[in-house]
Amino acid sequence: MAFDGKHGTMLKLRSQLWFDNPDDRDMTALYIERYMNWGISREELQSGKPIIGIAQSGSDLSPCNRQHIILAERIREGIREAGGIAFEFPVHPIQETGKRPGAGLDRNLAYLGLVETLFGYPLDGVVLTTGCDKTTPSQLMAAATVNIPAIALSVGPMLNGWYKGMRTGSGTIKWAAKKLKTTGEITEEQYIDLVASSAPSPGFCNTMGTATTMNSLAEALGMMLPGSAVIPAPHKDRAAMAYFTGKRIVEMVWEDLKPSDIMTREAFENAIVVNSAIGGSTNAPIHLNAIARHLGIELNNDDWEKIGHHIPLLVDMQPAGRFLGEEFHRAGGVPAVVAELMAHGELPHPQALTVNGKSMGENCESKFAEDREVIRTYDEPMLTEAGFLNMKGNLFGSAIMKTSVISAQFRQLFLSNPEDPEAFEGKAFVFNGREDYHNRIDDPSLGIDEHTILVIRGEGMIGHPGAAEVVNMDPPKYLLEKGINELPCIGDGRQSGTSGSPSILNASPEAAAGGGLALLKTGDRIRVDLNKRSVDVLISDEELASRRAELDGKMPDYIPASQTPWQEIQRSIVGQMDEGMVLKPAVKYRDVAHK
Ligand code: FES
Ligand code: MG
Repeated sequence: MAFDGKHGTMLKLRSQLWFDNPDDRDMTALYIERYMNWGISREELQSGKPIIGIAQSGSDLSPCNRQHIILAERIREGIREAGGIAFEFPVHPIQETGKRPGAGLDRNLAYLGLVETLFGYPLDGVVLTTGCDKTTPSQLMAAATVNIPAIALSVGPMLNGWYKGMRTGSGTIKWAAKKLKTTGEITEEQYIDLVASSAPSPGFCNTMGTATTMNSLAEALGMMLPGSAVIPAPHKDRAAMAYFTGKRIVEMVWEDLKPSDIMTREAFENAIVVNSAIGGSTNAPIHLNAIARHLGIELNNDDWEKIGHHIPLLVDMQPAGRFLGEEFHRAGGVPAVVAELMAHGELPHPQALTVNGKSMGENCESKFAEDREVIRTYDEPMLTEAGFLNMKGNLFGSAIMKTSVISAQFRQLFLSNPEDPEAFEGKAFVFNGREDYHNRIDDPSLGIDEHTILVIRGEGMIGHPGAAEVVNMDPPKYLLEKGINELPCIGDGRQSGTSGSPSILNASPEAAAGGGLALLKTGDRIRVDLNKRSVDVLISDEELASRRAELDGKMPDYIPASQTPWQEIQRSIVGQMDEGMVLKPAVKYRDVAHK
């Protein structure tokens, strides 16, 4: 028994139900017996000390998060120092670059596994070890459902990559190197060297990809200790942060400070604003909308545009800018971004509570950047209006567009009509999935030219289990050789956060769920209007209706069969991307540890 600071009552630790339950001495004996078999004593288990889980996401299969195996030692020391007992356990591995057919498949599986673990074992609180793209949202989603005290520890980005004096950033260098290889400017050997140079140490992608984004947003949500999201993985401060995180979670148990106290609607609004200022990934709305749904908080892509679109881009980091994780950390990381937003009245909720028991405002006030080249002032940003647009029309109900990565060349090719500078039209070329794209894109007889809009479909959560990151399609080789580096792209798949392509993506509903993209034909004209946030195919409602009748509610024939049981199960119960692609039956379960 212990004092519950928040409610002024005596708090019974959850773990006592297992290890010291006066109402069930038989089960207590059973639980104690087996947990003692690795050398922990009965005295410790019945000492009334909180049992803290360390949800271990690192493994040889998950190299981005592997440093957590080493950091766990420091987490344990912090837990013990603060009077807790650490129980480390594995979570389902998710490796963005290693999982076939795609890591998106596993976010909800890792979520389910962690929910069961946190619910079913003697844990009073948990340290979530976050890092590679989906490892962060899956664990925050589980913490949201179970709602025991939880704190996240980022593994941190890799050190900067370098190649012949040039910074090479994860993913971003791959997209660039691929274009150079396609046009014959570099050899196969140089291509591999260039890409490999971007990964020089343990840690996650060093660009502002989905990993840096999601860890920064976990901090902006208040779920990490301030300043901890982007300390590089091998840095001494990273290990020290592991220790402080371990210490803090024990206090959080005594304070009964739960995920639902921290991840409020206000916290999500703060995170949306931070996402614009850092130039965050287009995967962020999917993941944050998912975490919110598991907490019962309304959050949708209209919120993202309304709250985030007008915010300027402050962080000069690849793919939108020049620098990488080391510089972002050295310049002040997330607190410096928040301080700058606050100073201009653009942090919507400075009073939002964080895991250290203080508000976001208290943590970040006046923590201004140490390097104004890397984190710009609000008045001299990289770019104004850096948030996402929520595009709608007769092809889909919602799709995200990251306007901050629109290049000068793209603007000149597609957005230079003086009478209508924010709109363009083009004929669609439709690919049924990425195989189709790869097989045909370079065929000159298709007639793809600089006025074509490339469309890819069948790549949503149902169409391609896990939703592939494929919407950023390169133009055909013959256009690349002419210097045309980008064509407008539309699709129901996702796109890597490390890509600088201004695609219209995450289209919901997807083709495989009866979305309008399923009705599109190559040669149809599409109009995109950034001012009106609209994307429409320019054909009559009658024609659309007749094409829908032809489809007759059937699954399009280009949608592949499931390969594993989980693919089939997930397809049958997963929601669309604008709603966070959560497992629909899962969102009604809230606060499960306390029921
Ligand atoms: Fe793991 Fe990018 S592949 S963080
Ligand atoms: Mg990625």
